[in-house]
Amino acid sequence: MQILHFETIDSTNTYSLKHFDELEDMSIITADTQTAGRGRFQRQWVSDEKENLYLTFVLKPDKKEHLANLTQYLCVVIAKIIESYDIQTQIKWPNDVLIKGKKISGILCESSLKQNKIQGVVLGTGINLNMSPQSIELINKPATSLNIETGFSINKSDFQNKIIKEFFLNYNNLIEKGFDTIKNDYKKRIDFIGKKIILTQRDIAPKEEYIAQDIDNFGNLVVKDKNGIIKTLFSGDLIL
Ligand code: BTN
Repeated sequence: MQILHFETIDSTNTYSLKHFDELEDMSIITADTQTAGRGRFQRQWVSDEKENLYLTFVLKPDKKEHLANLTQYLCVVIAKIIESYDIQTQIKWPNDVLIKGKKISGILCESSLKQNKIQGVVLGTGINLNMSPQSIELINKPATSLNIETGFSINKSDFQNKIIKEFFLNYNNLIEKGFDTIKNDYKKRIDFIGKKIILTQRDIAPKEEYIAQDIDNFGNLVVKDKNGIIKTLFSGDLIL
């Protein structure tokens, strides 16, 4: 395992994709700040606070069947580490970690393809560890930072070490067996089953309203639409 750290970079995910072939399996790329941090659905991930975490895992397992569940796996890992600071978390499907309904971390997983064949993934996370209430207010969605929740500043390198250690603890298991290995840990942090949710695919696409029913054995979200039809959702962004 090699850790490559940059003071500043465009994006740890972009770097990992660009250098995918040269990077060893299980490499980790971190940066103090990113000038072009990216979120899901081509959103920007503002990354100019050097006491926040910006980290990407470069993963090239032989077995590719369960790669899609890595985002949910990392989400559980992050939730567990935050809870070790005595703070409760919730998971917003598919892979946001929330504290009292406010987002504290996001995950962006991207595949590296060669001649249309998947070589592996780059799995990046941004976690708000140390932010001022003023910078939080500039985020246009409900958000928080771990220091605000705990009342003390967070030691970034301790937090980073905990995440890396916890991630590799059950990583091989996840790769072998998939969502089943995290199903309980994931589902117990979901608190919107039975409630109304709104699904968006991109900020501009029409929004759809559902009642959340369950998370299935593969990590997909099962919902009921307004005509009572049950549907399985594979991706999207929820408004709770
Ligand atoms: C989201 O919630 O939309 C996902 C945000 C992911 C941000 C992280 S920060 C480290 C890595 N590099 C990026 O450019 N994005 C991810």
